Parts: sequence; C-alpha cells; structure tokens
Amino acid sequence: MSQATNAFVEQHRDRLFEELKDFIRIPSVSTLPEHQGDVARCAQFVADALTKAGLENVEVIPTAGHPLVYADWLHAPGQPTVLCYGHYDVQPPDPLELWVTPPFEPTVRDGNAYARGAVDDKGQMYMHIKAIEALFAVHGKLPVNVKMLIEGEEEIGGKSIAKYVAENGAKLKADVALVSDTALYAEGMPTLCVGLRGLAYMEVEAKGPAWDLHSGSYGGAAPNAIFGLVELLSKLKNADGVIQVPGLYDDVAAPAEAELASWRQLPFSESEMLAKEVGSTVLTGEPGYTVLERTWARPTLEVHGIAGGFTGAGAKTVIPAVAKAKVSLRLVPNQDPEKVVAAFKKAVAAATPKGITTSVTVLSHSPGLVVNPDHPAIRVAAAAFAEMMGRPTVFVRSGGSIPIVGDFHQHLGIPTILMGFGLPDDGLHSPNEKFCIANYYLGIQTVALFLEQYGKGPS
Ligand code: BES
Ligand code: MN
Ligand code: MN
Repeated sequence: MSQATNAFVEQHRDRLFEELKDFIRIPSVSTLPEHQGDVARCAQFVADALTKAGLENVEVIPTAGHPLVYADWLHAPGQPTVLCYGHYDVQPPDPLELWVTPPFEPTVRDGNAYARGAVDDKGQMYMHIKAIEALFAVHGKLPVNVKMLIEGEEEIGGKSIAKYVAENGAKLKADVALVSDTALYAEGMPTLCVGLRGLAYMEVEAKGPAWDLHSGSYGGAAPNAIFGLVELLSKLKNADGVIQVPGLYDDVAAPAEAELASWRQLPFSESEMLAKEVGSTVLTGEPGYTVLERTWARPTLEVHGIAGGFTGAGAKTVIPAVAKAKVSLRLVPNQDPEKVVAAFKKAVAAATPKGITTSVTVLSHSPGLVVNPDHPAIRVAAAAFAEMMGRPTVFVRSGGSIPIVGDFHQHLGIPTILMGFGLPDDGLHSPNEKFCIANYYLGIQTVALFLEQYGKGPS
C-alpha cells in the first residue's frame, strides 16, 4: 500500500516543493501588526490547499486574533478519526542582516530549503496536506476519518484556538491528534516526541525616577530603572542556573527511571551540540542534571530582551526612568502555570530594589505535558516511522512548547502523536532557519503510511 503513496511523492517531487515555496513566501508573522494582511492571506492559502487536497467543509474561521482553518473528510465509517494540527504563522525574521538569503524567499543550499517557517511549521504542516492529497490520488479515499485544524497564533501563545477547542468538543471529536512541529533526535533516526515543556511568558516593567535625569547631577543619589531591573533579574537565578523563585521546584515531576535510562541510550555529543547548534564554547545550567534532563525535564528562566534608556549612537548621560524585560519560565509536567506565575510575581516584588517599582504582565501561559508512549495510536505511529526509516523509533521529549497539545488532552480527552521531521540544527526562530528537503518528502510518506496503518487497526 505504502509503495503507491511513496511513488506518488516521487512522481510529484518538484510540484510538491514548488507549492511549499509559494506557501513559505507569504510572510505570516503573527506577532507584527503590519503583517496582519499577510497572515489572513496565508490562512486563505491553507484553506485552498485543503480544498485542492480533497478535504471537505473547508472553513476559514475568524477569531479575536488570527483566523483558524478547519477542514474534514468523514467518510470512513467504523474507522478512527485523526485530528491533524499545525500552525501557519511564523516568528519574525530579524535580525535580517544575518540571513544569507532573504527570509521569505525559500532558497536551496545543500539539500535544505532556507526560509523563515520552512520547518516551523509551514513545511511540516504542509506535509499533512500533501499526505492526504497522496492518499486520495492513490486510493480515491482516506483510510481513516480526518479533521484538520490549523492556527495562526501559535508563535504568540494566542488563545483563539484554545477557546475554539473548548467550545467545539463535538465537532473536533477524534481518537488522536497528529502534530508535526518537532524534530528527529538526529538525522536518520525515527523519533516520536512524548513530552513538551510549558511556558509562562511575562513582561516586567521597572520604574525609577518619574523622568530621565542628568546622571551627573543625580548619579549617586537617584535610583536607576535599568540597574534596578538588572539587579532584580540577577536575583531570580543563581550563577549555577538554579532558579531562585521560592517554591518553583516544589511540584516538578521527575521522569521515571525507565525514561531516564532510555535517554542515556541516545547518542549525545556535547561538543557537536556546542559547535553545530549553540555556537558557544560551554553549556551552562543546573548541576547534577544531564543536558537532556536540563532541556527536556527541568524548568528554566530566561530573559529574552531588555529595553530602556539610551541605546543610540554616541553618548547620552542619563539616568533612565523606565526599563522593561521580556522574561519566561519553561514549565515541566505537574507544575501549575497559575501557581508558577503567582510565585514569580512574588519573587519579583521581593527582589525589587529600593527606589524602584515593578509590575508584571503575563502574556501567555501553558502547562508542560507528557503523552503515554503505550497508547495504541502512538504504537502504530512508531511502527510506521520505523518501517519507513528502517530503524527502531526512539522516544524523546522536547524543551519547546506547543500549547494546544494540552488543550487536546484536557478538552477532547485525546493524546497527541508528536511526529516531527525537523533536524536539531534547523535553527527554529533563528536567522537561516532551514528544512531538509528530503525530510519534507519523508514526512509526507510517513504521515501517509501512518494513516494507512492506523486505518488497518491493531495488527
Ligand atoms: N515548534 C515550536 C515548538 C518546539 C520547539 C518543539 C523546539 C520542539 C522543539 C513552536 O512553534 C514554538 O516555537 N512554540 C513556542 C510557544 C510559545 C510562543 C507559546 C515556544 O516553544 O517558544
Ligand atoms: Mn512550531
Ligand atoms: Mn516556533
């Protein structure tokens, strides 16, 4: 059976790639208001692609934020239903000067397509659509029932999809969700992700004097908003990387010994990670935990940006009145995001120096999660993946977050298969993001094979 869809992909290689390039060329940057029209245009592109693939009931659904796109095909009575999810929005491309070729003109070098969104998540989301197209072309029907729900606010932690899922349980009812928005553990290794971290994203504002001051006249006596902010941030994590927010580690669930043991079997090279992925001479973080534990199963606190004061060319001697920082905590299973946010606010207040007032705004939060690798649908996915790549499938976690996966569990009561085809050095959110073109075809073929095998039931 799978040979036929594989052959379809081979036969249509060029067209399948050209269409993906058209999709990637739309700069659907969800966080930037000036791209709102592009985001809307991108939603329509997705809807048209779903229609062309053979899906029915295609809808572009307006929300308070960016549109959702839905489609389904429900003519496989007695067969399970798969809810495919992806996101068509992308991160901003900046800093632009670091891109070798323009971010929204997909360019091929060494078998990779370089562009913003190439792998996160346009290339991967599009694999689902093309797998369905292949199945229709080869069999004239799908082996299972399919519902597709695609959002445009993933990269901003937008709430529209969570609201939609909570309010449309019957419409979205499915046996399992399928998401391709993660990576292979390493090239050539079939990989299913069974854990994601959550995220609490905050903005901290510090205020010092009521207006900017001459640093000669008042330096030595007046509080400085930037210094106050930096001082308080530095108290939130110690030099070893241990977060100093009281209670933060209380509810952290440690992975089971069997899972930790399976991680120890994975090939891991710190020097390769440093050179190929991080571009640094040393890795940092909590003592007593391996790199995989630190990035997959421990909470973290990061500062993403600091703004304030004078940053133009030349010198201006000023004591700034205001400073802001974007800060987030990654969360792991069993940590309650609300509780973490409350603890964070309390720690910020406690660490705020004399003469400074602070406020914390929460932009979004979502919990960490694990999925059960023994779920029947996950077993079928692991078998299909292994068959396709000729090696056993490994189970990993990811340090990143895909907030809707928690909602699928909570509101629809279904697990999610995290079947991603990125590579560790794809540079998500970085300049020169890429997607290995071979993995695009591999993803289409593997998703098609999974749907075929899931349609055959447990063997
Ligand atoms: N595809 C990523 C999530 C991801 C990253 C999975 C790395 C596996 C490895 C997703 O698009 C993403 O970037 N999510 C954001 C979520 C946030 C904005 C709510 C993240 O993790 O920062
Ligand atoms: Mn993504
Ligand atoms: Mn992303």
